[in-house]
Formats: sequence, structure tokens, C-alpha cells
Amino acid sequence: GTTLGTSAAEKGRYFGAAVAAQRLSDSQYVTILNREFNSVVAENEMKWDATEPQQGVFTFGNADRIVNHAQSRGMSVRGHTLLWHAQQPGWAQNMSGSALRNAAINHVSRVAGNYRGKIHSWDVVNEAFADGGGGARRDSNLQRTGNDWIEAAFRAARAADPGAKLCYNDYNTDGVNAKSTAVYNMVRDFRARGVPIDCVGFQSHLGTTLPGDYQANLQRFADLGVDVQITELDVAQGGSQATIYAGVTRACLAVARCTGITVWGVRDSDSWRSDNPLLFDRSGNKKAAYTATLDAL
Ligand code: XIL
Repeated sequence: GTTLGTSAAEKGRYFGAAVAAQRLSDSQYVTILNREFNSVVAENEMKWDATEPQQGVFTFGNADRIVNHAQSRGMSVRGHTLLWHAQQPGWAQNMSGSALRNAAINHVSRVAGNYRGKIHSWDVVNEAFADGGGGARRDSNLQRTGNDWIEAAFRAARAADPGAKLCYNDYNTDGVNAKSTAVYNMVRDFRARGVPIDCVGFQSHLGTTLPGDYQANLQRFADLGVDVQITELDVAQGGSQATIYAGVTRACLAVARCTGITVWGVRDSDSWRSDNPLLFDRSGNKKAAYTATLDAL
């Protein structure tokens, strides 16, 4: 293929980008998005603070702009994210115990239910494990409602949208390490006990090196019977940027259950990072990293 999306599709995968609703009025941005990508995810617009700014009051306007753009062009949509310790509305940040648990599960049911039938994969829970060698859960208001909050969220998401693939998503899980092994053990346990989980997302916010066991790590999760997805790929600028993009792409293609790659923005000027980590430069031109990625597909 001559674009990321068509080339990935030839390999049975999608190639997506994180989209910000306000960028949909930038014609250069939209031209690149429509030409290159066949999947989108909302960069911020489906998060808890955006979708339930007051308890029980749901606002989907900006998220709908992204979903409608995708649907009208035949792009699939990843949902990001139902529960996360960050970007919670103020009212939830101030809750605890069973009141927070009930509010969180209601949020999952209402947002997943609102988009029932429209979401390819949901990041049901994002970043619930701590960094470092302990393999522990991250401390958060959600975690303090009880260790079973993650499985409760997955069960609620399945009930609300039975057709969506349900993912756990995290960062610093890109190689075999204590954090990724803790996630692995949770997924293995969920599969053994029938908790509905279908996929694991590897954010892959990368620096100047790619873990040597990146592909092996994807494969060990796939061997648990879940799909794996690269969900938020961006790579520090520098001599290794193109090589790392190509390495991630080849790793995904080498793992049968790696179903797609999403980059976390379109142009460097759209990125949440300041180190020019994306595939298109600030003028919308293809970078060496783009060519390396397309060649690897
Ligand atoms: C980031 C967005 O890109 C920023 O615009 C926002 O200010 C903060 O969140 N991991 C995630 C994403 O799962 O939701 C984060 O997105 C980047 C890190």
C-alpha cells in the first residue's frame, strides 16, 4: 500500500492516530488523517472529566465529533478510556469508598452504553499498575475502593457493549519487566476466572531505545489468548527514531494477535510531547520515521 492505513489493512491490521476534536477544523491535519489512517482514538474527549463533568451529567459532543468523522470515512474507533486515576472530574476526585465505586461503575456503564456498537476496542482501565520493581497496583482513589475494581469495570463494560473488545492499557510495559509481569499475571488470572478481557494495550511512549524483548513481551500476552495492540506510540527524536518505529511495526506484524498500531497524534505540533515524536513534521511533511514505518508494513 501507499499509506499507513492501506498497508496495515493488507496485513489484516489497522493503523490509527489519536485525534483532538479541535484539530478537525485544521484542513492540513484532516487531509493527513483521512489519507493515512484507518482508525482513530480520542486524545482526551472520552476521558471521565470530559464525558461526566458533573455526576450523572454526560457530555459527548466533542467525542461525537471524532466518532462521526471516523464513521463517515470507514475508520474504526478505539475508546479511551473508561477508568483512569488521571483526568477525573473534580467531583470524583473527592469521592471514596462505595460511593466512588458505584459512581465509577455507573460511568463505565453509561459511557460504554452510549457508544454501544460503535467502538472497536475500549481501554476499560488505564495505568492501574505502579512503576518500579514491586509489581504492585498504583495507589489511587479507585484502587482504594478494593482490588476488584478492575474486574468490576470489565464486567460492566461487557454488559454495556458486548461487541467491543475490552482492553487493559498501560505504559512502561513494553518490555518484560516487573510492571509488565504484574499486568501479565492479572490478565492470566482474569482469563482463568472468566473475567471478560479481550486485549492488552501497550502505550509505547518510547525514548531512544526499544526494549530487545519488545516482540517477545507482546507474544507472551498473546499466548494468554488476548489480542495485543500498540495504543499510544510516539518515539523521542534523534538518530534512532525511524529505526524504533520500524522495529515496533515489525514486532506487531510478527505477532499474529497484534491487531493494530495507534500513534499518539499526527504532526509533531499536535503531540503532547515536545520532542517531535511523531511521523509528520510541523509542516505536515512525512519524516524519515514515516518512511521507515511504511516500509516495515
Ligand atoms: C495525554 C494527552 O495527550 C494530553 O493532551 C493530556 O493533557 C494528558 O493526557 N497516557 C494516556 C493518555 O493514556 O491518555 C495520555 O494523553 C498520555 C499518557
